Amino acid sequence: MFSQLKPLPTDPILGLMAAFKADTNANKIDLGVGVYKDEQGNTPVLKAVKKAEEFRLANETSKSYIGLAGNLDYCQKMEELLLGNAHPALLANRVRTAQTPGGTGSLRVAAEFIKRCNDNATVWVTTPTWANHISLFEAAGLTVKEYPYYDYEKKGLLFDEMVNALSQIPAGDVVLLHACCHNPSGMDLNAEQWQTVTDIAKAQGFTVLIDIAYQGFGTSLDEDAAGLRLLASQVEELIICSSCSKNFGLYRDRIGACSIISKDASAADVSNSVLLSVVRSIYSMPPAHGADIVSTILSSSELTTMWHDELDEMRSRINEFRSLLKEKLNDKCHGMDFSFIERQHGMFSFLGINKEQIERLQKEYSIYIVGSSRVNVAGISHANIDYFADAVAEVTK
Ligand code: LMR
Repeated sequence: MFSQLKPLPTDPILGLMAAFKADTNANKIDLGVGVYKDEQGNTPVLKAVKKAEEFRLANETSKSYIGLAGNLDYCQKMEELLLGNAHPALLANRVRTAQTPGGTGSLRVAAEFIKRCNDNATVWVTTPTWANHISLFEAAGLTVKEYPYYDYEKKGLLFDEMVNALSQIPAGDVVLLHACCHNPSGMDLNAEQWQTVTDIAKAQGFTVLIDIAYQGFGTSLDEDAAGLRLLASQVEELIICSSCSKNFGLYRDRIGACSIISKDASAADVSNSVLLSVVRSIYSMPPAHGADIVSTILSSSELTTMWHDELDEMRSRINEFRSLLKEKLNDKCHGMDFSFIERQHGMFSFLGINKEQIERLQKEYSIYIVGSSRVNVAGISHANIDYFADAVAEVTK
């Protein structure tokens, strides 16, 4: 049976990780996968996480199953982190959350949930979007279509085109929006644009799915969730897929959540029963570790403050390097303008260079960036920024 299989290409993002690892050039730079790095190029375990892990090691009393929805305290804390403590949807008891294996697990659960709601739903994603979005929804048997989002020429949003496309999407379809730190472009909606999109969602009746994988990496925990909170206060139904990979640095512990907001408390119970049935049919129950760490941190004011400080430090470093990168590239690459890097948010921006130039960066300089020209700004440091900017200047000459 297996002889029928044809080999598939490696994932465009994860394949870079392996290629980078195998590269022996001492000057190599990894700007590929979306993982935060410090000045030394490390992705350390956060101090708040270490403390919570010590607590867990000392206090864990059982390895029994944790249930379909996972750690319920974690689920509640995630709802509050996403929506804010006193959000009307929470006060009306309209939100139900399942802990999931990472943000990707959350998206896959959401995809199956959508399929149960409407077998013929089309999921609309931004052009461009995180490449895995498309595979994830298609793997659940859903049709995926794209709507205009990023303006490669002007390095901004194609907002009028986006509004035009969204205004034609019918009820029964799902529109995926990135809450903040758009992956891969770094280009986010402003408050007014969120309101416009909310108005269209209400008028058209389609369902919005918010992917929030970088809360706290853009402006602040609250501001990065402002669009999501606005939508949640004005629409009847909403799906939120969240991740603790980046903001808690828990990448390999695979911890995320899928939250469903329904029109009232009894509809929320029905949604929850379907959500849990989906979970049961995919992986039965989530792993415990990551959720225990997050709920321990968010239950302690001391650990929460420590985590906030560490998150602020990560965000400040990224923003500092957005400014520095813009300066260096503008200085060294004559006739090119990289000021958009400073206007965008989170880990990613498109450099806007072509395939051949990207290949030269990898082959001649051991600089690894995704084939779309997406760079992870967190991979830049004081030690490598000149090497990087000189290499970009050389290949774009
Ligand atoms: C990325 O976009 O680099 C991250 O979300 C990691 C991944 O799984 O692709």
